Amino acid sequence: MSGLEEGLRGLDSGGQLAAVRAMPDHLRDALWRIESARLEDGEAAGVLVCGMGGSAIGGDLAAAALGDRCTRPLLTVRGYAIPAWATPEWTVLCCSYSGGTEETLACFEGAQALGARCLVATTGGPLADAARAAGVPVIGLPGTLQPRAAVAYMFAVAAEAAAAGGVAPRIHPEIESAASGLEAAREGLEQRAAEIAERLAGTVPVVYGSGLTAPAAYRWKTQINENAKSAAFSAVLPEADHNELEGWSEAPGLGAVFLGDVDQHPRERRRIELTAELVAEQATAVVAVETEGSTPTERLLWAVMLGDLVSLRLAAEHGVDPTPVGAIERLKDELGRG
Ligand code: F6R
Repeated sequence: MSGLEEGLRGLDSGGQLAAVRAMPDHLRDALWRIESARLEDGEAAGVLVCGMGGSAIGGDLAAAALGDRCTRPLLTVRGYAIPAWATPEWTVLCCSYSGGTEETLACFEGAQALGARCLVATTGGPLADAARAAGVPVIGLPGTLQPRAAVAYMFAVAAEAAAAGGVAPRIHPEIESAASGLEAAREGLEQRAAEIAERLAGTVPVVYGSGLTAPAAYRWKTQINENAKSAAFSAVLPEADHNELEGWSEAPGLGAVFLGDVDQHPRERRRIELTAELVAEQATAVVAVETEGSTPTERLLWAVMLGDLVSLRLAAEHGVDPTPVGAIERLKDELGRG
């Protein structure tokens, strides 16, 4: 039994550890589901990925992994409306794991009213019903996960929507090789996560990313929030060097994490080094991580998997079940009442 399994024994009611470990299988299954949906290729002005929380992050991750390979915009929309500037020439991918998220349903309606090409990724719910009624292609997702644990599916689907909209090349081989790379890295990642979580224990983590790792930093934050039920924050360099850095002059109990990547701009890498040195004067812990992998997709998902494992390790340390998100559900129930 691994240290993480041991730590989560009796706590992990919904199998979050198994879901994170299965990320490589999720990538392969996503490719299969995408192929089964037989999406037609088009020439969109750009692609909007509409979703919230665990269903939105795939859009950010796909845009980061594709990077300069995007020849037109690939943007994530979190909220009730697609941007006023969007025209019918845009493709709109609506992602909602449950299919019941009100913001995403509103975006779907907005995209339909606009006359934009729509695609949907969901397990079912009102979003699947609305898509089927409108003849919109649905990429069906397996219904056994927590929405945030479907991150690999949401990533692959967003990358595919970009390709189907003609805004970026198709990266299926890169996704497949990332799946093999993550499988090989899995044990080492669990070990690494244990070391990092030990250093972050008792701190409020602030996770910094830049370029490729910017959405990974946000993912670390949200996974620590939802799985470990603890406060965590994230920010992006170089922007944070122009404001947030001053806040570190008094930072009781904060732990800083810096996510480095070989492809970051050399000045971004220098900023990471210097910022880490400066915050070390006040931080309870400073953790530097360098992504590993042979492609941007692999390195990005490596960072995501590591962060997910760190969040589970922190859940174990806090003695909390990573699965339930009671506060989020209470809020959704309240909103559902009007
Ligand atoms: C829960 C989670 C949330 C949901 C979000 C949107 O695991 O991660 O962030 O993803 O509340 O719900 P869905 O994904 O069902 O549209």
